[in-house]
Amino acid sequence: MSSAEAASPGRFTELRLDGVGRRFAGKDALVDLDLTIRAGEFIALLGPSGCGKSTALNCLAGLLPLTTGSIWQDERRIDTLPAEKRGFGMVFQSYALFPHMSVRRNIAFGLQMRRLPRAEVRRRTEEGVRLVQLEEHADKLPGQLSGGQQQRVAIARAVVLEPSLVLMDEPLSNLDAKLRLEMRTEIRRLHQSLGLTTVYVTHDQEEALSLADRLVVLRHGRVQQVGTPEELHARPVNWHVADFMGFRNLLELEVAHVSGGGVDAEAAVRGEGLTLLGTATGPVSAGDRVVAAVRPEDVVVVDEAGGDNRIAATVEVVEYQGRELAVEVRTAAGRALHLRTERRLAPGDEVTLTVERERLLVYPLAPGEQAPAPLVDAVTT
Ligand SMILES: Nc1ncnc2c1ncn2[C@@H]1O[C@H](COP(=O)(O)OP(=O)(O)OP(=O)(O)O)[C@@H](O)[C@H]1O
Ligand SMILES: [Mg+2]
Repeated sequence: MSSAEAASPGRFTELRLDGVGRRFAGKDALVDLDLTIRAGEFIALLGPSGCGKSTALNCLAGLLPLTTGSIWQDERRIDTLPAEKRGFGMVFQSYALFPHMSVRRNIAFGLQMRRLPRAEVRRRTEEGVRLVQLEEHADKLPGQLSGGQQQRVAIARAVVLEPSLVLMDEPLSNLDAKLRLEMRTEIRRLHQSLGLTTVYVTHDQEEALSLADRLVVLRHGRVQQVGTPEELHARPVNWHVADFMGFRNLLELEVAHVSGGGVDAEAAVRGEGLTLLGTATGPVSAGDRVVAAVRPEDVVVVDEAGGDNRIAATVEVVEYQGRELAVEVRTAAGRALHLRTERRLAPGDEVTLTVERERLLVYPLAPGEQAPAPLVDAVTT
């Protein structure tokens, strides 16, 4: 299974989802998904629980019929094909290994079902065992393996079939933190070395950012944004995506004035005893309700109280996180803010904070649109 071989026959250049939608009992789970996946790409479907990630993946896999739209592999329509005719590999959160079969036999099973010559089954099985580094465990039963090892078997079982597309639904969520990190690297390594095309479902933004070439963020069944990790990290399109991408401080404020126009204009925003300069992500004008978003790592503790964009606050909760502390502070107006700092702060400390204008993103709120709920939680949530 060289990468050249993996990139050849039965392959596609593009897989296109065209207006794909799925309803359950009249309720939309996925609406109008347009997405073109290029061969060799690693795509992450990201979003909170219930946003339609698994629905999208299962539509792609052929496990769920579409309510609307179509799916195309180059010029060939495939949403009308049953799952087994699509030639995709699936890896789920539950490994679904055969408990009475050894690791080796679990990996060989799909190849045997395809009635490949015995020598080829053996060769590809051994290669699969090696790929996921389970040589020492190949004769064990799944029950004798750790969670991470079982997940490796599930991945090997899918990739030995040399699928044109690998679909993974939260494959790491049963693993502990350390194993998750290890398997993350493993999955990316396999993707690259085998020249796979992968669609990966997760609700973990860090996982999605570190694995994917492009991310698709869903909310209530609708695509919010499609982009590279850099694009999503730097410039979420709306405050919901910002919230999801780690902008934990979301303040509902009012525009005082705007210098310049359009996107990237400097917007002065105020409310709750604060006046801050931020960067407009869309057209805003004086008097508009907006959400100002900033990441905890972009809220900086400073010594001098004077200057632009200063926020006075009192430290409430400090959480040790190695070199840095995760800190929750409260402003005089009672607003909780999150920040990260290397300073050794303690509860009760009075601090002055600042945020660079470029790091405070200002999102217009549509009339009647609900603003984010104020932060009342503790640092760890
Ligand atoms: N078989 C089903 N019957 C009825 N409703 C369903 C069915 N499957 C999913 N839904 C609904 O569709 C919506 C999207 O579900 P989906 O499983 O795609 O979410 P998800 O993003 O994968 O969430 P999670 O992160 O919790 O796995 C949810 O509101 C869910 O309740
Ligand atoms: Mg799901």
